[in-house]
Amino acid sequence: MLRLSIIGCGKAAERHLKIYKTLQDQVKVVAVADINSERANYFASEFSAKAYFDFQEMLKKEPIDVVDLALPSGMHGKVGEIILKKYKKHLLVEKPLALTLKEAYNLVNLAERYNLKLVTIFQNRANFPVIKLKELIEKNFLGKLILVSVKFYWSRTQKYYDSARWRGTWAQDGGALAQQGCHFADIITYLGGEVESVFAKMGTYLVKIEAEDLLVGTLKFKSGALGTIEATTCARPKDIKAEVVILGEKGSAILGGFAMNTLNYLALEGVEDSANLIEECKNNPPHPLGYSHFIYLKSSLEFFLTGKRASFLAVGAEALPSLQLIIALYESAERGKEVKIPFIPKYCKLGKGT
Ligand SMILES: NC(=O)c1ccc[n+]([C@@H]2O[C@H](COP(=O)([O-])OP(=O)(O)OC[C@H]3O[C@@H](n4cnc5c(N)ncnc54)[C@H](O)[C@@H]3O)[C@@H](O)[C@H]2O)c1
Repeated sequence: MLRLSIIGCGKAAERHLKIYKTLQDQVKVVAVADINSERANYFASEFSAKAYFDFQEMLKKEPIDVVDLALPSGMHGKVGEIILKKYKKHLLVEKPLALTLKEAYNLVNLAERYNLKLVTIFQNRANFPVIKLKELIEKNFLGKLILVSVKFYWSRTQKYYDSARWRGTWAQDGGALAQQGCHFADIITYLGGEVESVFAKMGTYLVKIEAEDLLVGTLKFKSGALGTIEATTCARPKDIKAEVVILGEKGSAILGGFAMNTLNYLALEGVEDSANLIEECKNNPPHPLGYSHFIYLKSSLEFFLTGKRASFLAVGAEALPSLQLIIALYESAERGKEVKIPFIPKYCKLGKGT
């Protein structure tokens, strides 16, 4: 039985709470921490766990194997370092791993040095259609990729940004790309491979926040493929869709739905029954707690307990390419020039001053 603690009992952790309650044969939530005593007490009461308002006091006192870190994004780097370096606990961290490459590499290196497991929560990798598409790409059913194009048109109003002081700030969050779009940046690199260079423009159009609510970028992959990203929380009056288009020399696929949870199109050269293949992997199976989140957390717990990993988990350094892509896009938008990866970020404001 895994002894787990939660640091940060906010909105994201609320979903974790519901999932852990259904996995009580795998995990025991022994303690929780939040500076907001009401939140900490509420979480603790749901698990008969102990509530702390100071996470370090909890880490000192409690017998914990793994920490679920769901603090504001800008805190992941520093608090993650304390968890790995000082208290030597395995770490399950909400996306993004950190907001700067320096902090993210530091977490990856610390986990390696102390032989600790580090998993970043990118639950969309566990979407049924994404698993199938990854498999098809790896087995070369689409051939060499030539285009990976991502667009998400979501809606976040001023009310959302005003719901917590860290939202939409450069130091703690970033805008549409870093916060909501980090799932898409992850899928771009997960399915499309490493990115070589980017060029982007961004702006803040419909809300009063420091960071952007719209970013548009072009990408060139190391493989030679090209790509685009349209990342926005400006859709009004409500969320519209998310879409990933992949064209290869032998086949094409389109992921859709709200968060890449449906396969809307698949055609493969020489495969007569693509239609059947679509039926097989078209949608996430229905699940009361959200199929991919449930599967991702369950698989993470299994990895912490047994070392057996599901292929879709973002373990250690596997969370770095998407962060590098996000930072490159911001760097390009600030510089007004193409950015070639790797580079030393100079103008990107994400995570600065955390
Ligand atoms: N995987 C996903 O789809 C998904 C969805 C939403 C959020 N997230 C991520 O989860 C993280 C949290 O987001 P959220 O929306 O839950 O934020 P939130 O503001 O709702 O929750 C953050 C919690 O951290 C607490 N906190 C702040 N400083 C603290 C400290 N020093 N010690 C202890 N507790 C402290 C706050 O009181 C709050 O309860 C972010 O990194 C976000 O990117 C992931």
